[in-house]
Amino acid sequence: MSNTTTSLEQEIASHNPLGVKGIDHIEFILDDADKWRDYYVNRFGMYPRAYAGPETGIKGRRAHIVGQGRVNFLLAEPCGDGPEAEPLREHLEKHGCGVKDVAFRVSDASAALIEAEKRGAKVVRAIDDHEQFTAGSIASYGDTIHTLIERKPHTEFAPHYINVAGGIEESDIQFMMIDHVVANVEVMEDWVEYYARVFGFETRRHFDINTGRSALMSKVVGNEEGYIKLPINEPSSENSQIKEYLDEYNGPGVQHIALLTSDIISTVKAMRQQGLEFLDIPDTYYEREVFEGRVGEIDEKLEDVQKYQILVDRDRPDGYLLQLFTRCVFARPTLFFEVIQRKGNSDGFGEGNFTALFEAIEREQARRGTL
Ligand SMILES: [Fe+2]
Repeated sequence: MSNTTTSLEQEIASHNPLGVKGIDHIEFILDDADKWRDYYVNRFGMYPRAYAGPETGIKGRRAHIVGQGRVNFLLAEPCGDGPEAEPLREHLEKHGCGVKDVAFRVSDASAALIEAEKRGAKVVRAIDDHEQFTAGSIASYGDTIHTLIERKPHTEFAPHYINVAGGIEESDIQFMMIDHVVANVEVMEDWVEYYARVFGFETRRHFDINTGRSALMSKVVGNEEGYIKLPINEPSSENSQIKEYLDEYNGPGVQHIALLTSDIISTVKAMRQQGLEFLDIPDTYYEREVFEGRVGEIDEKLEDVQKYQILVDRDRPDGYLLQLFTRCVFARPTLFFEVIQRKGNSDGFGEGNFTALFEAIEREQARRGTL
């Protein structure tokens, strides 16, 4: 091997030392796997894809896989009295329903786990090696983990999971992939350093937001190609919504998951018809002069954007994003979802909407005479 090749390989390795290819799935630990499967199928247009339980040979849990496009959610509930069920019960007790695992697909799971450990990550599950599926897990913020998965295509989801016939995936709700996964933590810099050291992720953006009501600092880490985006939030005021999350969830965890759609208008229209509730946006946000002054020309009609209460933010001269947020989905006010569509070169997260929304609320209050 020539020196040139070696240094090139080292350079590639330093940018992506674990060989991460993308997000494989997100695992939720829940109080009722059947109920939440139905929820994601009925409200998010997802399809049942796989199942595991005691009858398929898995211990301590029942789990459904639902998904659409390249989005896969693993919905697990504790089952039975064995020691395998105990960690799930403890997770539920401490955090309520929430995300346990943001799992990444890697090219070589055994090598990735060894490399992660060498880089200081704590291994929480040793390599589980099967012919079609190899995986091991490392600890991340709070009780969240990252499982590193290597799988052969067109096989079952994981050992003991049986495929569920899903039929043709045709829905007005159209999700392609997970756009970003957001963490709320106590000390942002610790986790920016962790993702740089262990994964080779770089800091792609950072913002410091203070609306007077709620303040937060955020840095976005991700891979060089830009298709893995992990914003990390830290509270910067006592009344911060991030602080509230940390109290309610009993520590750091996943705050929201943004699902990328190719058509936000039809997606949100269908989700609203299915009864999904989103955050209310004041009409003052859509006042034509203010709105157009902020975002410029967009492909969508202002009437449609306002009708479905979609937020718009221009983050590039040649790019903008459309987004909206669900209400918190679980009993505790912790996790919510974002629906996002990107146009042109958009690579932001809707930072401009924090201020735009705050000012819209102020205009509304001023009109009602409460300011
Ligand atoms: Fe987001």
